[in-house]
Amino acid sequence: MDEKRRRLLTGLSFAGAGVLLNSCRNAPTSNSFATNEEKKESPAPGEAETVEVTATEDLMREHGILRRALLVYQESATRLRQDPASVPLDALEKTANLFRVFGEDYHEKQLEETFIFPTVKKAPGAAPAYVDILLAQHVRGREITDYLLSISKADRIPSNSVETLARTLESFVRMYEHHAAIEDTIVFPTWKAAVGQSELDELGAKFEDIEHNQFGDDGFEMALKRMEEIETSLGLSNLEMFTATAPPK
Ligand SMILES: [Fe+2]
Ligand SMILES: [Fe+2]
Repeated sequence: MDEKRRRLLTGLSFAGAGVLLNSCRNAPTSNSFATNEEKKESPAPGEAETVEVTATEDLMREHGILRRALLVYQESATRLRQDPASVPLDALEKTANLFRVFGEDYHEKQLEETFIFPTVKKAPGAAPAYVDILLAQHVRGREITDYLLSISKADRIPSNSVETLARTLESFVRMYEHHAAIEDTIVFPTWKAAVGQSELDELGAKFEDIEHNQFGDDGFEMALKRMEEIETSLGLSNLEMFTATAPPK
């Protein structure tokens, strides 16, 4: 595949799929790929029943997708130092593109910055003090994603950029792991307490609508599938390989 075409596919496929699904969704009688038979209430044999996801659960499982992208970044940094040619740049580009579309444009901008942070900023306790730092980290993350998207478009990484890229990846992983942990343990619980149960239910439904409008039927499932493809392409799909070695006796 020529370089231009590779770029187009890796750069646009995830967002493009969202637009495609979105246009299906907006058609008056169509709902994504589901046939009339599939739209029936009860699940097919062997298929899991759809379970409601609360607003905070939704945000936290999105962090799960982003943490899997961070694992790709961490592994890429380690491999870059061992053998730069062993890091497929299209996998890095796909990961950065997923982080941009699902993490930054959707999770951060449309949910956290629109609904969560403004409420948390006015809440009592320790959480408001984190908001400005979290916002600054969103901005820094976008700068790093811009850099990763730009460097991963090349055929190879110039040898004098390898260490800078590895350090940038590690620094991003370090920031975002802590960022997501503070949101999961302090910011989201504060937001949940501030809005109360009935508004939480309404916002949960609203988040689902935003996700559907952005991506089609299920942005989370699309992002999960994309993440699994990237992990498989890098040989990172076997959870067992990450089991820690036994400690010294
Ligand atoms: Fe955030
Ligand atoms: Fe977040």
